[in-house]
Amino acid sequence: MGTEEETSNGGGVATAADTLSITDNRTGETYEVPIEDGTVRAMALRDIKVNEDDFGLMTYDPAFTNTASCRSAVTFIDGDKGILEYRGYPIEQLAEESTYLEVAYLLIHGDLPTQAQLDDWIHEVTIHTFVHENVKNFMQGFRYDAHPMGMLTASVAALSTFYPDANAIKDEDVRYMHLIRLIAKMPTLAAFAFRHNMGQPYVYPDNDLRYPGNFLNMLYKMTELKYEPDPRLERALDILFILHADHEQNCSTSAVRSVGSSQVDPYSAVAAGVAALYGPLHGGANEAVLRMLKRIETKENIADFMKGVKDGDEKLMGFGHRVYKNYDPRAKIIKTAADDVFEVTGVNPLLEIALELEKIALEDEYFVERKLYPNVDFYSGLIYEALGMPVDMFPVLFAIPRTSGWIAQWLEMIDDSEQKIARPRQIYTGDRTRDYVPMDKR
Ligand code: CMC
Repeated sequence: MGTEEETSNGGGVATAADTLSITDNRTGETYEVPIEDGTVRAMALRDIKVNEDDFGLMTYDPAFTNTASCRSAVTFIDGDKGILEYRGYPIEQLAEESTYLEVAYLLIHGDLPTQAQLDDWIHEVTIHTFVHENVKNFMQGFRYDAHPMGMLTASVAALSTFYPDANAIKDEDVRYMHLIRLIAKMPTLAAFAFRHNMGQPYVYPDNDLRYPGNFLNMLYKMTELKYEPDPRLERALDILFILHADHEQNCSTSAVRSVGSSQVDPYSAVAAGVAALYGPLHGGANEAVLRMLKRIETKENIADFMKGVKDGDEKLMGFGHRVYKNYDPRAKIIKTAADDVFEVTGVNPLLEIALELEKIALEDEYFVERKLYPNVDFYSGLIYEALGMPVDMFPVLFAIPRTSGWIAQWLEMIDDSEQKIARPRQIYTGDRTRDYVPMDKR
């Protein structure tokens, strides 16, 4: 079977060189499976059976460590070389030259905008920053100490109830309006959550300001008539937003795609992304890094802490990555941005501990052997803290820019004719067909 003609296993045209020969030793049968883009289709294995009643072979891949779930043209990562590109543009150039809103346009539209397109885009986002007053009332209902990620998850989901047409996901004009709204309102919801925790009145958007400046305004404005963001802090925040905008098929993006595959509205799909990002192994890691640095307290305690890590008692948070087996390119850029922020705010004393941890880890056999390098979260928390952010807000600061990546991936999924409702298989390990036992017989 196979060679130069079309094969039936999973579709696609393959030449002899582009196939995988699989011999099933249970039956002695050999199968030719096409190799496309360095992958074989899992469905191609379904033809491999011991007899007609057999369900067919499946792949078993907990945590999807070696399974491509989609084709995507949004973000490219080469984890071994430490390369990250959005739509083909290296992250270093975007962080240097671009703004977050331009990057959001790039992620969603696929190309950099012309000046007129960018002006329009910024205008659209800016005029949609306000939320319905009832959203504000809804948020005021949270307990005084509610975690802002919990508030964000709930309030993004709640937005779907304010826009009943949001479920018209096949209507390009309608969904365009909702993706603008999502990008525009995320900072407003995030800032309201922050002010709620602070017990301070919520601050409405100031649409004279740029996207990051307006966010700082909503966070920090007190009695002054006009909040003037420090341009250096505004730029540092914009860079952090650029770095966090997308990261291909990570946990939260997969959640957005998976939930979105049921054809639910984008607010509900993005709420799933925010929920996934909340966890300490994902967007919550920067919060965990800060807590870790505070717990270590002084450089003298580092050796003890590192011993605990190597003994497997805990992890060095902000280190390691499923994809990067090299220095996370975002971590490098953040380190530079941190210097600019500290110039305004003064150095965060925890930086010393972080630098020392990094130095030791990069030379230590345990970390070298496992290719564990600093990831984006190792230094971002230090900047957030310098900006006056409590640790609970760190994942929220990740969620704001990641919204554009989630939307870009969600749009791609909706328009991908190969995609259907996400529905993994399982290996069933439980009992079978047991007779119900009445209560008095158990
Ligand atoms: N500290 C100490 N050991 C580690 C760490 C760490 N941070 N990360 C991985 N290891 C060890 C792990 O114990 C395992 O060792 P062994 O082979 O002896 O069992 C080995 O390295 C491989 O790790 P893994 O857990 O199989 O790797 P993974 O790809 O499943 O996990 C990770 C990736 C990011 C969840 C993990 O590295 C981790 O928990 N890091 C700390 C949390 C963190 O910083 N998360 C932020 C990720 S970047 C932001 C984002 O994209 O969300």
